[in-house]
Amino acid sequence: MTDSTAIRHLPDHDAFLLTGSGFSYAFAVGADGSLRHLHWGGPLGASDVAALLGDDARDFGSNTWSHPRAHTEELVQHGGRRLDETALKVEFADGVRALDLAYAGHRIAGDELAVTLTDRHYPFDAVLSYRVRPDEGVLERRCELVNRGEHPVVVDRAASASWPLPWRPRWEATWLAGMYAAETQVTRRALGPGRLVLESRRGIPGHAAQPWLALDAGAGDTTGEVWSVALAWSGSWRLVGELAFDGRLHVTAGVNDYDLRLPLAPGTSWTTPVVAGVYTAAGHDDLTDRWHRYERRHVAPRPDTIRPVLYNSWEATFFDVRPESQVELARRAAGLGAELFVVDDGWFAGRDDESAGIGDWTPDARRFPDGLAPLAEEVHRLGMRFGVWVEPESVSPDSELFRAHPDWIFQWPTRPRTLARQTHLLALSRPEVRDHLVTALDGLLSSAPIDALKWDLNRPLTEASDGVDASSPWIAQVEGLYEVIDRVRALHPGVWIESCASGGGRADLGIMSRTEWTWPSDNTDALERLAIQHGYLRAHSPHTMMAWVTDSPTYLTKREIPLRFRFHSAMCGLLGIGGNLATWSTDELAGAAEHVTRYKHIRTTVQFGTVRRLDADAPDDVTALSYQAPDGGQLAVFAFAPSVRHLRRTVLLRLRDLDPAAVYVDADTGARHSGALLMHHGLRVPLVGDYASALVVLDRAP
Ligand code: GLA
Repeated sequence: MTDSTAIRHLPDHDAFLLTGSGFSYAFAVGADGSLRHLHWGGPLGASDVAALLGDDARDFGSNTWSHPRAHTEELVQHGGRRLDETALKVEFADGVRALDLAYAGHRIAGDELAVTLTDRHYPFDAVLSYRVRPDEGVLERRCELVNRGEHPVVVDRAASASWPLPWRPRWEATWLAGMYAAETQVTRRALGPGRLVLESRRGIPGHAAQPWLALDAGAGDTTGEVWSVALAWSGSWRLVGELAFDGRLHVTAGVNDYDLRLPLAPGTSWTTPVVAGVYTAAGHDDLTDRWHRYERRHVAPRPDTIRPVLYNSWEATFFDVRPESQVELARRAAGLGAELFVVDDGWFAGRDDESAGIGDWTPDARRFPDGLAPLAEEVHRLGMRFGVWVEPESVSPDSELFRAHPDWIFQWPTRPRTLARQTHLLALSRPEVRDHLVTALDGLLSSAPIDALKWDLNRPLTEASDGVDASSPWIAQVEGLYEVIDRVRALHPGVWIESCASGGGRADLGIMSRTEWTWPSDNTDALERLAIQHGYLRAHSPHTMMAWVTDSPTYLTKREIPLRFRFHSAMCGLLGIGGNLATWSTDELAGAAEHVTRYKHIRTTVQFGTVRRLDADAPDDVTALSYQAPDGGQLAVFAFAPSVRHLRRTVLLRLRDLDPAAVYVDADTGARHSGALLMHHGLRVPLVGDYASALVVLDRAP
């Protein structure tokens, strides 16, 4: 029970004070044994805790039952008069569905605190875990449910945490809503009394919203308090913001309880996924910085490795994957400076279109009689790494795998099976299915020098039974996926994995801890992509955000966009190329090569730098953002306008967080600007004509 700097137990008050950069979080053990929440906000000292304890918000006289109880509790358990949003509900073997948990002890180890709550009647514990990431000011929370008894317990609802926010007179919520091909659109609304429910019931995170939410009481980019939570879970999830009429806001975050019946056998336990929370007093810029730093330091694999320039063949060839045309694309991609060449869907047995082949991860013998090795080796000779697309969790009815194991999918015995994109979902809840996938992917990765996988999923979970144990596929499927990825990564530690999020929206902190980057959207229209990227960057670091330059007109929207705009748009994240290079003119190829060279010059800044959205200075039709290198030595400023109106030919963008005394030199023109001028007057950026775009690179003078 040793205190750390980040976590202190205050025995006089039986209280806990958790502190990281710019924030404190406090709660105490109440006289009745319940955990009483005290504070989540700016930093406090131990001497403030007595005052927090004296500030009892529950004292409303005899009508207290009408006031939200949730706001005062660390873990809102179902039972008694807790008739608000609850975090935990279980059913005991005798049919009792109310909990009565009380503090039983705690343990502090380093920056982690575990508080055990024990039921007063049943041998059942909930262990609340807190981990402070002091430098980023992030608090990670999760909850372990322990059945110590001799009878099964069924978990009906198990959020990772409840987050009571302080009272404020008004609240604004920001979240990332969307749909297929229009993902992560910044959505901001004033909250009224009632509930804001963001969720997925699909077994995958889905496109409707990211499991991420920011709440402020009137913050801007550079000022104001913001609270934010994000869930590390790649399945069905639920975030609820419940606002009482008097301004008390309470957030619950965790796996979705929709159709959840999670059995806990005697002597077993289950731990929820992590939900991370961030508080800042310095506005949405600082919130973005904290989430980005957190992903880089505590989530991402290979956090310090520059991500390669990718070529992906999907939009160039779709299912018509043949070695000759792939080699031709690879030659041209290498000529442009691509470093990783990925063959998308269509390379494996029987895969001529969407109707067949998923599940059989062996190369199509008609097209690749000697397997993938000759193509992979040719790609290596061209100086690039080689990768392939897979969708391991799905299976086509027309596949060898399904014919051999029709029982390996989620299905109800008496109901029709729902096909989605002409596939079923393999039940990764079953150990033999997980073993099969690990063996199949190991076989694939061992059959040729394959350096990367694009890991896709293009369907939801619909029939929630794996034929063996109908209890809780919603949880077991995601845990099964994590196990399979972890085992594949352990067998092939050099392989990079891209989480393809456009089929399933899977770009959450859970999958991001196992993959090098994500594919945020199938929409490669460079203009529409800007809005998608703008939202994505609120929650996620640019080193995870892949973007391809594709053909014009773009295949989904048919919009014609100049090459320069397409490149600039994709250069705001991880630059990829996905056009049919066989049809690009010599001029286009030369122009593309120049953009790739330029990108390599700025990519450390873009991938690992500090991002600023310059919305305040950008008229409605302009998108602008800047990236500052981690060492402050370089700035990359991007601006975009679909069409320039009236006589305006420039925008004046005030940059933020520079050294006012430093001099920044325009890498193209040699113009010199002081940091003070760039911040207080602005950088004048030319934007001329239709689909105008600009990239200004500024180097800090020594
Ligand atoms: C999904 C992905 C695309 C592509 C196709 C292949 O739609 O999002 O990028 O890989 O599958 O079928």
